[in-house]
Amino acid sequence: MPEPLLLIPGLMCTAALFEPQVKAFSDERQIVVADHGGAHDMHTIAGQILAEAPDRFALAGLSMGVYLALEIMSIAPDRVTRLALLDGKARPDTADELAARKALLNMADEGRYLNITYDILLSRLVAAGRSLEPGLRDTIIQMATDTGVTVFRRQMAAIINRRSYLAGLPAISCPTLVLTGKLDVITPPECAREMAGQIPHARLELVTGCGHLSALEAPDAVNAAMTTWLET
Ligand code: MLT
Repeated sequence: MPEPLLLIPGLMCTAALFEPQVKAFSDERQIVVADHGGAHDMHTIAGQILAEAPDRFALAGLSMGVYLALEIMSIAPDRVTRLALLDGKARPDTADELAARKALLNMADEGRYLNITYDILLSRLVAAGRSLEPGLRDTIIQMATDTGVTVFRRQMAAIINRRSYLAGLPAISCPTLVLTGKLDVITPPECAREMAGQIPHARLELVTGCGHLSALEAPDAVNAAMTTWLET
């Protein structure tokens, strides 16, 4: 049996984000989808994930899952056989990004948690025009509902308080896939290029017609890239 695959979802996402990957890879290996909402800082969440994880595993994270995957690489690189960074970034936030995050927290404080998804995120999470597709839209809304406001607040605090992961990239020595949708407006391709440029054994894949939630939006392309990565 090949090594297990540990998947870490993004902000306000659940295991449903990776349903296409679980379907594709669970016949051949154990798959674990991490709980990534258990604390207010990345280091503690990464420690919680490691405490529940198999001894050694292939590690894939999407967006907030990329911050956590990079945190795990700094804590326990020997447990990770290969690394996939999907739609994420290693750099810190700009002042505008930070202000936008605080505005989302304010909406939650005003009792408008689900409006964060309906009014702000839905159209930004997937490629332009695709947020009305029932399959994508219903899954995104369901994931936000299942996450809930308490976990959202913890995840957002962890994102706001995270450190820059840029300095750690050159030390990553396992086979690494860096993949991003070409139409990702949350973590655009330049963020993927930056990570792939700094990680010694990285392969960069930019997915045509795809936004931020690549695992869900472009499952065939993502599964093909992950198949190659898992066989490297
Ligand atoms: C995510 O999808 O996990 C978030 O967009 C991450 C972020 O806002 O940095």
